[in-house]
Amino acid sequence: MSTDAQHQHPTAPSGTGYDEVTLARLTADAHQIVGRYPQARSALLPMLHLVQSEDGYVSRSGITFCAEVLDLTPAEVSAVATFYTQYKRRPNGTYTVGVCTNTLCAIMGGDEIFDELSEHLGIGHDETTEDGAVTLERVECNAACDYAPVMMVNWEFFDDQTPASARGVVDDLRFGKDVVPTRGASSVCTFKQMSRVLAGFTDGRADEGVGAGGATVRGTRLAREKGWTADPAPEQPAESAAGAEADQPAADATPSTGAEQSSAERTEETPADTSSGTAASADEATPAADEKSEPAAQDTTSSTSSAPTTSAPTTEGER
Ligand code: FES
Repeated sequence: MSTDAQHQHPTAPSGTGYDEVTLARLTADAHQIVGRYPQARSALLPMLHLVQSEDGYVSRSGITFCAEVLDLTPAEVSAVATFYTQYKRRPNGTYTVGVCTNTLCAIMGGDEIFDELSEHLGIGHDETTEDGAVTLERVECNAACDYAPVMMVNWEFFDDQTPASARGVVDDLRFGKDVVPTRGASSVCTFKQMSRVLAGFTDGRADEGVGAGGATVRGTRLAREKGWTADPAPEQPAESAAGAEADQPAADATPSTGAEQSSAERTEETPADTSSGTAASADEATPAADEKSEPAAQDTTSSTSSAPTTSAPTTEGER
């Protein structure tokens, strides 16, 4: 596709191997995705997630579909799909279980958790159980080091894990029990469902739960208790200072639901909101400065399928 008009209205590719109904649906979705970008090729990453939402991995049909819609060669699409580990080259399990084994999580037990799951499930890194339920991965830092060691299930957080709690989570997943993340969303969706979210189609769960829990806002709480403040910013020329002020929200402004940082400010509504170690706001429910957060759902064999004991997840960015 080479014109702006075509960028906004991708035609239906003919050589993908998808049946007519599937192709029409994917093409309509592609139309929405491509329309978000000034150049069609910029839509490749969400398009690959769209393919995964259909096929469970980046299939040959999906590569052809992306190439034809975005006016790229299959080789160009493959080059991108094989660069990022979030794009799967063979059918993925219903749940991607990613154990962080980066520095801090490894020190706090991440390696033991991975080894436990690997032995328990009988699979290694980037392998899937025979029943197709779980794909196990070592993952890099999930930006949740304050809850180390961290495990993710389809990019939803399971904080403060132990080998036993992690084993409980994967058993519940395989037995079809409800599994509740320890922070964020109050449920875990399937890999295909999450892939559709990553393609840019909301599932309505983005504002569930508390994103910034107790451990995350502990420094803020401590500073307020102690009356600590940052040094004042250096004087700025009048013009640039006025411009900077215009870009900043009022200090006491309360974000509306769905706005940036709204999760940390909203009232408790979901099971994940009331779990331990999370805070409804930076001023409330944050553990005392010297208080250590309790591990989340340690024996998750039962806890993940009943009342949530802690918090939940997010989506991971491209790695
Ligand atoms: S090292 Fe594991 S979340 Fe940062």
